[in-house]
Order: sequence, then structure tokens, then C-alpha cells
Amino acid sequence: MTKKFKRLQAFDVTLHVKQDGFVRAPREAQRNWLLNRAMGEFVDDLNHLDVLARDMVPGVDAAPLPDRTQLDLADDEIMERWQRPLMEAMADVATAGHGDVLEIGFGIGVSATEIQARGVRSHTIIECNDYVVGRFEQWRQEYPDADIQLVHGRWQDTLDNLGTYDSIFFHTYPLNEEERIDHFSQGTTFAAHFVPSAANHLRPGGVFTYLTNEIDSMSRSHQRLLFKFFDSVSLRVVAPLDIPDDVNDAWWSNSMVIVGATK
Ligand SMILES: C[S@@+](CC[C@H](N)C(=O)[O-])C[C@H]1O[C@@H](n2cnc3c(N)ncnc32)[C@H](O)[C@@H]1O
Repeated sequence: MTKKFKRLQAFDVTLHVKQDGFVRAPREAQRNWLLNRAMGEFVDDLNHLDVLARDMVPGVDAAPLPDRTQLDLADDEIMERWQRPLMEAMADVATAGHGDVLEIGFGIGVSATEIQARGVRSHTIIECNDYVVGRFEQWRQEYPDADIQLVHGRWQDTLDNLGTYDSIFFHTYPLNEEERIDHFSQGTTFAAHFVPSAANHLRPGGVFTYLTNEIDSMSRSHQRLLFKFFDSVSLRVVAPLDIPDDVNDAWWSNSMVIVGATK
């Protein structure tokens, strides 16, 4: 049994390792080094969260989600305005190579417009909501000469029929309460469940971009998930976000990290 303590002014941390073979490096000194590193990172993270928490907005209580796969939603129910700088930052990543872009989730077309403004060879959009597809058809008329294709359906049902791309821009939301519980509440990013599919549909050197639940840095579990599928990762802290006190989205900070993961 191994015990480690950190006593600070604001909190104490106790690590009680119950199994002798846990983190069993060849030498005791190495084991200590690994356990101390884990404790040190936890303490450092808590101290940062203490500072970051002071700048968070309250937001509103989340009601259980209705099935919104086919709901006719208002603009700000699809995407709130404060997310626009994030769309621009992700569009920068997705269009850096000006190649074939796959975008998942059309929404109100802010990101699609940003992608077109930067110039790409082709732009394929997967969208499941019939009303949003109606919005897409109108938006499409503004780009008569561009190579833009719509794939109507959920990505889970359509992606297998598509090929590979130079970049993937992923911005969907949970379609119902089950998806919210499964993919949203706890994780470091809603996009985690899409990571293997993104890697499958990118060409070598292709880049996957998405929003995260990361405020000012990226957690080790998030990095490890990406490095299972990608060769390198770039991060951008997008700030300041004009996050309203009564934000509806499950985000409460005036900064967010966006990711570009390269295969
Ligand atoms: C937050 S909006 C995207 C906003 C968009 N980036 C913009 O700038 O306007 C999410 C979109 O993803 C779509 N969506 C959600 N889940 C989906 C899925 N599984 N497959 C395809 N589209 C999905 C929704 O219908 C919605 O239009």
C-alpha cells in the first residue's frame, strides 16, 4: 500500500494506491516519479481551475433534450452568436490546404460561408435535419459555380458511402437526451465519438477540426485519444468569446480550445 499527500492552503490531496503492482515501474524511484508527476499535475490543474472558474458565466439549467433530429429550430437554437469566432478559427484550419473539405452539420451556414470565403476545391456537407437542408438549398444558390454537395442524413448512416478528404470540419450537437448523456456531459469533447471515423475518412496529411470542452489547454486523456489516430495535433485558444450570462449551450467560459488533428 502506498500513500502520498499534498497539503495546500485551499485543499489537500491524498493518493492511496491499494494494489502493489499498480504503476509498477522497474525501480521504486521511477514509480515515485510517475506518481508524483500525476499528483503534481492534479494539483496544478485544480489551481488553474480555481482561477478559470471565477470567469465562468452561470448559463441556464439544461432541460432534458427533445428529439431535435427533425425540429424546425430558430437560428440561436441551432447555434448561438458567441460561437462565430470558433467557426472562423475552425474554417482557417479546414481550408489551409484549399482541398476537398467534408463538413458535418450545416446549421445556419456560418461555417459553410467561412469555408467558401477561404476557397476550397470541393465542399461536401452532411446534414440530417430536413428544415436545415431547406436552409442549405437557399444558401447554395449564392455559390452557383462552386463544387458543393449535400449528403442528406445522419453521418452515422451516410459516411460509409463517402470517400476520403483533405479536411473534416465537425460541428454537430446531440440530437436527443441519450446522445447528450452518452457523448456530451462528461467528456473532453462531444466530437470524441467521431474521432475514429474522422481518421478513416482523411487522406494522409489530412486535418480534422472540431470544438472541445477545453478552456485553456488540452487534457492528457484528450491528447491520448487523438494520438491513437493522428500523427500531430495543433491547438488554438479562441478568446475572448462574447459568452452571455444566460448562455443556453453547455459552455460557460470566455475561451475555448479548438483542435486541428493531422493524420
Ligand atoms: C450546431 S449546428 C452547426 C452549425 C454550423 N457550424 C454553423 O456555422 O452554422 C449542428 C448541425 O448538425 C446537424 N446534426 C446533428 N447531428 C447530426 C448527425 N448525426 N448527422 C448529421 N447532421 C447532424 C444538426 O441538424 C445541425 O444542423
